[in-house]
Amino acid sequence: MEPAPTPTLPFLNVYEPDIERVLVSAEQIQAKLAEMGDRITADYEGRSLLLVGVLKGAFVVMADLARHIRLPLQFDFMAVSSYGVATRTSGVVRILKDLDEDLDGKDVLIVEDIIDSGLTLNYLLKNLRARRPASLEVAALLQKTDVQKVPLNIRYVGFEIPNEFVVGYGLDYAERYRNLPYVGTLRPEAYGGG
Ligand code: IMP
Ligand code: MG
Repeated sequence: MEPAPTPTLPFLNVYEPDIERVLVSAEQIQAKLAEMGDRITADYEGRSLLLVGVLKGAFVVMADLARHIRLPLQFDFMAVSSYGVATRTSGVVRILKDLDEDLDGKDVLIVEDIIDSGLTLNYLLKNLRARRPASLEVAALLQKTDVQKVPLNIRYVGFEIPNEFVVGYGLDYAERYRNLPYVGTLRPEAYGGG
């Protein structure tokens, strides 16, 4: 009898059973970031740019987006907290880690994973604007439609998604699922914990 073939391990299979449905596929994300990178490259032609990533979620977007921007780039990161481990925004933003770089006179692009209520970003924009950058814009992979509590001017938006809690591609629930290559919703059972 033939030995059973060694099964190839499905990618990130450990999280797969928790996903209800894929909202934005890995291919769609990559194509969109390439397009966004092209736009940014054209818009800032002849200049250099400081990308400010909002930890932790933005590290995945930032890594992929940066490789589609054909300009001299610097990187810095900020960590803020508005959620804890729950799925509702509190409106209270705390700076857990501030930037290392001075923003004075620099072209700054904030890179965000997702804009939900917009409260985090609203706070960040005010805070960073006070540091007198030459310009300050935002690139976000996802934006939830019709839930922004404050008017925001976001120059680069990847995808508008419905007002549902999503995970993957940097986004977590209780610090899990960040390494999924796509964005999806969780099955109700997955919120139980464990
Ligand atoms: P906002 O202040 O309500 O806009 O929330 C911004 C932050 O909340 C994002 O940077 C995420 O870290 C987190 N967040 C908002 N919506 C989601 C979601 O659907 N899944 C995971 N994290 C989210
Ligand atoms: Mg975030």
